[in-house]
Amino acid sequence: MTLTWGELRRDAEAQLRAIGVSDPAAEAQWMIEAVSGMDATEQLIEATTPVTHRPTAGLDALLARRAAGEPVQYVLGEWSFCGLDLLVDRRVLIPRPETEIVAEIAIREVERLGERVGPPEPWSGGLTHYVVADLGTGSGALALALAASLPDAEVWATDASEDALAVARVNVAAAGTIATRLRVGAGSWFDGLPPAVRGRLLLVVSNPPYIADHEVLPESVRDWEPAGALFSGPTGLEAIEHLIATAPEWLDPAGTLVLELAPHQGDRAVALAHDAGFVDVSVRPDLAGYQRALIARRRAD
Ligand SMILES: C[S@@+](CC[C@H](N)C(=O)[O-])C[C@H]1O[C@@H](n2cnc3c(N)ncnc32)[C@H](O)[C@@H]1O
Repeated sequence: MTLTWGELRRDAEAQLRAIGVSDPAAEAQWMIEAVSGMDATEQLIEATTPVTHRPTAGLDALLARRAAGEPVQYVLGEWSFCGLDLLVDRRVLIPRPETEIVAEIAIREVERLGERVGPPEPWSGGLTHYVVADLGTGSGALALALAASLPDAEVWATDASEDALAVARVNVAAAGTIATRLRVGAGSWFDGLPPAVRGRLLLVVSNPPYIADHEVLPESVRDWEPAGALFSGPTGLEAIEHLIATAPEWLDPAGTLVLELAPHQGDRAVALAHDAGFVDVSVRPDLAGYQRALIARRRAD
């Protein structure tokens, strides 16, 4: 029996509802888009058009993966971060909405330091006059958001995971003109950066692993996302401690460190930043009101 696109979408929605996903209508629409290339409006226009066999089989495969518990972002193979469409798969953490707040905070810090914020200028030829870094870049989410909003920045993206860097490189390559200002480096935290940028970074941003080994995570996270992106060690603070202690020697004397953290880690991170010599230190909340981002400045206003 030949189905129409409208019937196929309703059928997908019913299957997604039956397995308990929180927004079956949205996921059905995204999956139809993935197999057909039609956006939401086109899907409505084509609702009574018969479907050929190939997209139906493709949709069945996506629904089967979702039914097995795979996060919708991996099933779709892409996800949006700060308005950028990123390749995401099991090699990288799924970029989170709270990290978009961290990106925004980081961009405003660079603006506070006197640099321009705005869309890239294709005619600039990729000229830069300062350097920033995203450590533990995963999919490249934060680095790409910085490069997209800071037109004069050279942006370094590093990770210790070769799998993650392979994904980041795809996303950088797909980023168009901003790719000319993005550099990818392999290594543990600051070791992934070239010695030439030591002491010159206007901004270091990182969303490091900050979960303690003993913490219990939802199955969809624990079973699907890379452990190396989630767990930091016995306390959960190991990566944060290292980044705060090491950042001063890599930052410009006026530079800022912005770190994502778990809400309960805020007070400890502030104390560590003061110990490391940062003079102006605060923690900002995310959209849900949870303490989420450490801002540690080497120089006060
Ligand atoms: C929480 S994920 C963040 C990914 C991405 N920045 C984001 O916000 O979506 C942490 C990232 O840090 C990387 N990582 C873990 N240990 C690292 C280390 N010692 N040096 C560099 N990166 C590391 C992981 O591979 C992972 O990509």
